[in-house]
Amino acid sequence: MKKGFIKVVACALAGLFLLSGCDSLPNGSNGPHEVPTTIKADFTQKEKKGNWITYGDCKVETKDGTAVITKRSASNTGIAIPCADYRGNTVKAYVKASSENDSMTLSLKYEFYGNVSYVNIAAGQADEAGITEITGTIQIPDNAQNAMIYLEASDVRDITVTAMEVSIEGEFNNLTGTPVESLEDPTKTASLAAAYADYFKFGVASPATVMTNKNDSFRKLLKTQFNSVTPENELKPDSVLDAALCKNDPAKYNEAPAVHFEAAKPILDYCKKNNIPMRGHTLVWYSQTPSWFFYENYNVNGQLASRDLMLKRMESYIDQVMNWCEKNYPGVIYAWDVVNEAAADDGGMRDCYWKQVIGDDYVEKAFEFARKHAPANVQLFYNDYNEYQTSKQEDILKMLKPVAAAGNIDGMGMQSHISSGLNIDNYIAAAKKYADELGVKIHITELDVTAPKSLNPMYDQGVYMQKFFEAIIAADKAGVPIECVTVWGLTDDMSWKSSTKPLLFYGNLSPKPAYEGVMCAINGGEVAKPADYQEPKTDSTPFVEDYEDKKFTGGPRYSSVQKIVEGGYESDYCLMNSEGYAEYDGYSIDVTNYVGHTIKVTFAIKSKAPTCKCTADIDGTWPTVAEVQTGSDEWVLGEGQYTIEAGTPSLTIYFESVDMNPFYLDNVKIEVID
Ligand code: XIL
Repeated sequence: MKKGFIKVVACALAGLFLLSGCDSLPNGSNGPHEVPTTIKADFTQKEKKGNWITYGDCKVETKDGTAVITKRSASNTGIAIPCADYRGNTVKAYVKASSENDSMTLSLKYEFYGNVSYVNIAAGQADEAGITEITGTIQIPDNAQNAMIYLEASDVRDITVTAMEVSIEGEFNNLTGTPVESLEDPTKTASLAAAYADYFKFGVASPATVMTNKNDSFRKLLKTQFNSVTPENELKPDSVLDAALCKNDPAKYNEAPAVHFEAAKPILDYCKKNNIPMRGHTLVWYSQTPSWFFYENYNVNGQLASRDLMLKRMESYIDQVMNWCEKNYPGVIYAWDVVNEAAADDGGMRDCYWKQVIGDDYVEKAFEFARKHAPANVQLFYNDYNEYQTSKQEDILKMLKPVAAAGNIDGMGMQSHISSGLNIDNYIAAAKKYADELGVKIHITELDVTAPKSLNPMYDQGVYMQKFFEAIIAADKAGVPIECVTVWGLTDDMSWKSSTKPLLFYGNLSPKPAYEGVMCAINGGEVAKPADYQEPKTDSTPFVEDYEDKKFTGGPRYSSVQKIVEGGYESDYCLMNSEGYAEYDGYSIDVTNYVGHTIKVTFAIKSKAPTCKCTADIDGTWPTVAEVQTGSDEWVLGEGQYTIEAGTPSLTIYFESVDMNPFYLDNVKIEVID
């Protein structure tokens, strides 16, 4: 076999494609075929499946070994590298490109029985020379069909791509995940919506492809289980704003942007026909909103719009969208997320076009316009993530108090993208605080719960779900006005965070222990232990890594990359952590086997970053285990202790630096001291 190639038996996949047709088999082959470990786009050649392809409506010409992308009709158009054979693997994607776009993003697109998912991998901005380089890693779901990695940008300006490649990280996983062979009959599973009817609506986010899908199993699942629907992407500004009309006749649409609802119609039609109420998501957001919307004449090469002009566009957009939906689908949308994610993660308001062009009062203005134009009985929500964290909650409350005082808000949307480490009492206290201080209703709008990295991840997630829903029911009974709980997707394979398996149904539509946990919370009982349940063992063998054998057992936290490099602490080798998307993308070690004990962590670390830390990953708190002053780029020794409370389902600790400089790690030792 050629070096750098891996043999794959594609016919093992045949079952997976029974429903969608064999023509979508990777590489169109039924026999064994060779899979390259790296796919490097070859821009000396024309586009070709298996190397690179044009993605979306745009023109691509190859010139001097580069791809020049022009006439881009939307911000997500460009080029893609198809990598269907990489399903079930972690891959590294890289691109080097130049453009005047504010930023570019590498994203993954894949299908699952006709439903399409898009996941951002990593974003980057141009350096002084105008070059953007982006590297990121992502796990492609086991059951992903037609996976491809594509380049998108903040607007439609031209892009020149000099290099783009996708490669397998670590050992090739030869489709070890069980492919979904057939879909379960979803009507056999008891309804969540019916079980919770006395408490709140039970909703789900869905892409419109569920409605247009030839396969009706997904619709059956949706209709049996849920009584509220949120379109996952179809009512966001980048789906609704009509780029062609706005740009072709900017004078006509200058103050009243052109809008269309092609993407959202299938889902609105379905909800109207089936009497399922819808949450409208979302009107004013920093993301999935094209940058041209904020420019004079919708021209990104010109000036940003004035505050007055942008206020007119904002009012018109809110008015048009809410009232088009009401006129064409009367009564379907019962709540709108008027403003999404306006608070910054590191304090205050998020910097974005809305804030830059209008000013800090853009949130108040959005709600003022929404109230003025909202059809009767449509409730107005603010929506955000990490909303349960103390300091972010303070910022959100500060921002919303004037909105509440003006009577322009009806509800707080708690997105709730959480993990099973999150402290449930703190979460419920945050919900109560929003309701009390703003006098509004609560919707849990985007619930998904990252499965723990434990011995029994699905079971532990189920147990957590039960506790989470028991707490929500208790809070609801005690008067916290929780009126809707929406999960962000139908199945794990359709989730925007599919590798974390965060939802209630498996890809084949059968209910997970997480579903069972939600049902036990209301009906009583306990989540059944799976047949392969493993008793959690506590183990006091110290964890020791000195990298002299060039091996490491930890892994990346989010998108960072680890490599063994020369120049260890008084030794030959050490571990280098780099290429993360954020400073907290560090090197992560699972310490679940020490649950119930106090551990002592010692290590040597080196970085140009002024400080480096070892941190415990208890969601929403991130307590520091050890902190050292680095910055000199010399080795420094660190030491700290941490008590892992008994009952914690899983825990990782991670090493990080305070800025984006790489850090080097050596002689890591974790031992039980109590
Ligand atoms: C996500 C969708 O699920 C993805 O398909 C899309 O690529 C990106 O957006 N907060 C929100 C949602 O308010 O709109 C986001 O949805 C998830 C985070």
